[in-house]
Amino acid sequence: MRVPLMAANWKMHKTVGEALAFVEAFLPRVRGVDGIEIVLAPPFTALDRTGEALAGSGVALAAQDCHAERFGAFTGEISATMLEDLGCTYAIVGHSERRTLCGETDTEVAGKAATLLRHGIRPIVCVGESLTEREEGRAFDRVGEQVDKSLASVPADKASEIVVAYEPIWAIGTGRTASPADAQEMHAFVRECLAKRFGDGAHGVRIQYGGSVKPENVYALMAQPDIDGALVGGASLDPESFAKIVCFAPPEESP
Ligand code: PGA
Repeated sequence: MRVPLMAANWKMHKTVGEALAFVEAFLPRVRGVDGIEIVLAPPFTALDRTGEALAGSGVALAAQDCHAERFGAFTGEISATMLEDLGCTYAIVGHSERRTLCGETDTEVAGKAATLLRHGIRPIVCVGESLTEREEGRAFDRVGEQVDKSLASVPADKASEIVVAYEPIWAIGTGRTASPADAQEMHAFVRECLAKRFGDGAHGVRIQYGGSVKPENVYALMAQPDIDGALVGGASLDPESFAKIVCFAPPEESP
């Protein structure tokens, strides 16, 4: 049984003060939520204080990236050792914004995922096709290739520690979401790719959907058998909105 994983990716938003105000407003809203894992990924600068504010709450701390090397002359980079030191138990790697804007490759993503696992930090490995790739009928090939290459260094006995986030690039920050059926089709395909690599271990891997997830659409997405959580950008910046997503109640029936 896969425990749903709801993660907030704040990207380059929130000062320390804003992060702490979020936590103060958010925690009471999710107190008592059972059987759902909740993760916040603030920017690096707010990790320390956000981690302190989350202590004892059951809400986990994630980084938005990590360098593949343990230490060294990499100006501006952050290592898995440093993230472990701050209490991060998850880290997002291979987000499409990093792949597109920073030219990150599948091989680099694989190195980051492997390093994180060695430090006991669970990688949330992002994959997803562009609009052109979808329109040209190449979405499954592209996502399959990303899954294979980005997880190339993950040993089978660590499969249950990884999370894959399927985020179609055309749905990120655009207000356009994949339909639940289209998302499910891709998630089932990702699980097939995982099964080729990890065998039965694939059933334990959580696959999140990301791309314009909102309180209004999360229930239908979470009702799909292979959607095990959400990676949420814009709608995770507001405590009330993210709390509603975490709880994914069915939409109210109109009177
Ligand atoms: P979005 O971002 O929810 O704003 O579309 C999701 C993501 O990039 O992880």
